[in-house]
Amino acid sequence: MERPRRLRLQPVMRQMLAEAQIRPSALIQPVFVVEGTGIEAPIPRLPGVSHYSVDRLVDAVRAVADAGIRAVLLFGVPGRKDAQGSAAWASDGVVQRACAALRERCPGLILMTDLCLCAYTDHGHCGVVRSGCIDNDATLALLAETALSQAKAGAHVVAPSDMMDGRVGAIRTALDAAAQHDVAIMSYAVKYASAFYGPFREAQHSSPHEGDRRSYQMDPARGEREALREVRLDIEEGADMVMVKPALPYLDILRAVREASQVPVVAYQVSGEYAMIEAAAQAGSLDRTAALWESLTAIHRAGADLIITYAAAEMARKMAVDKG
Ligand code: PBG
Repeated sequence: MERPRRLRLQPVMRQMLAEAQIRPSALIQPVFVVEGTGIEAPIPRLPGVSHYSVDRLVDAVRAVADAGIRAVLLFGVPGRKDAQGSAAWASDGVVQRACAALRERCPGLILMTDLCLCAYTDHGHCGVVRSGCIDNDATLALLAETALSQAKAGAHVVAPSDMMDGRVGAIRTALDAAAQHDVAIMSYAVKYASAFYGPFREAQHSSPHEGDRRSYQMDPARGEREALREVRLDIEEGADMVMVKPALPYLDILRAVREASQVPVVAYQVSGEYAMIEAAAQAGSLDRTAALWESLTAIHRAGADLIITYAAAEMARKMAVDKG
């Protein structure tokens, strides 16, 4: 009889044989920045996550860095919205000011900026809207402008999440023309029109007022071929890393992307995935830490080099304790 259990009997043996081991340095912490001062406001649907004004952000991010996290992904909640989303590229925008402050006061930390218009437009879409439709090509210049202003403010990595065609190329061209060669692009290459973004949209005030995002985000019913096409295009256009989002419901896609690409692959455990675990834990249905651990391990095992998760700092702290 074959006895696979022989290798599972002792904890030490299990530890020796572990293949997928999450490291704190492979986790990225999303952070929400708001206008104003003195603000640290918990986000009800994302327990453990808060809105911070720039003055409060630095201490919060220092605590994240102290936990062993090496990178944050910044999301802005602007004070004003307009049809084009002009606060996205304002040199004194929330994300720009956050980058400047963190560059100065958290040296060594990698600053990543979400690059999209939806939180900045008064209609809540990720692109320019003309006659009720998204104008893909008119959006590219605005995204490029936003990338440039984030780069100038100190972002190391810009992360376009809009899903317009051609945006990675437009951003790379704009960055290069401004001699921002060293700023990397982490593209949300494979991003589905997902129901799991609910808590996030509430936190970033970025739900579309009319319609939905299915004309630009991907259909969950499509498969690997469309995903690989998006990845190929983004890499050809200059993406330094590619992302799959959401993570856990799309592990098949994550694995396919990992096998097909030569750049690092990032997975985003999105707000709904996190909130779902949180809600089940609060209802007493499952163990929060164990469920987070298992989910992140599965995402890593499926092929993610890096994982964006709201639980990044929390899990990093737990790993430090476990190591003793
Ligand atoms: C902006 C953006 C979204 C998320 C990240 N960037 C929302 C969306 O596309 O609708 C979702 C992140 C999450 O749910 O945690 N376009």
